[in-house]
Amino acid sequence: MMTKVKSARFLAAATNVAQLPPPMFAELAFAGRSNVGKSSLINSLLNRRKLVRTSSTPGCTRGLNLFRVELDVGVLDLVDLPGYGYAKRSKTERRSWGPMIEGFLTMRVGLRGIVQIIDARHGPTEDDLELAEFANHIGRPLLIVATKIDKLPRNRRKPQLDALTKQLKTPIWSYSSETSEGRDPLWDALLDLAGIGRVSGVAP
Ligand code: GTP
Ligand code: MG
Repeated sequence: MMTKVKSARFLAAATNVAQLPPPMFAELAFAGRSNVGKSSLINSLLNRRKLVRTSSTPGCTRGLNLFRVELDVGVLDLVDLPGYGYAKRSKTERRSWGPMIEGFLTMRVGLRGIVQIIDARHGPTEDDLELAEFANHIGRPLLIVATKIDKLPRNRRKPQLDALTKQLKTPIWSYSSETSEGRDPLWDALLDLAGIGRVSGVAP
């Protein structure tokens, strides 16, 4: 079904969990390697070009950034996280961000699930597998999105997604923030994960 985004706005940024406003609505966190396309995915899902800052240089997102989204079916907060696996940050940043991200994912009361973004062209890296395991360990539902699918030739997409599904032992949603392909099924899955939205069997 088509999800309608009525409005989206920046809500808050923080460099530690205590600075964040208390949760008011269901939240989903977007996590993954640096430069994989987390911030671009949020922009694309919200039909906005520049709500979230993106860059071709890794290490663009710093700290935790919250966005409030009003949908036709309810309100949802999206949390953009800094990427992992980016070595060029200062030591202080690296030392504080690991615990910040882990602390947020572990303790945040409003968090309904983790959206893990991986690059559709590559298999999951060591870091990717660690995050998936961490999500499992802390008991958070996980949804995996293979993005940048536009960079794969059409005839390689299905085999590649099948291989990723096998490797990660979980269904994977494919997406392109360039073309928005995969948008409707992904929104359905996100609403399911967040536990908001349609009651099945009831006419709109
Ligand atoms: P950090 O904030 O550094 O962790 O990175 P990020 O994961 O938020 O990545 P970001 O959204 O900033 O995108 C990184 C680069 O990938 C940018 O140059 C984007 O234009 C590009 N990009 C993101 N998604 C896609 C996609 O689906 N297709 C293509 N072709 N490029 C993409
Ligand atoms: Mg980012």
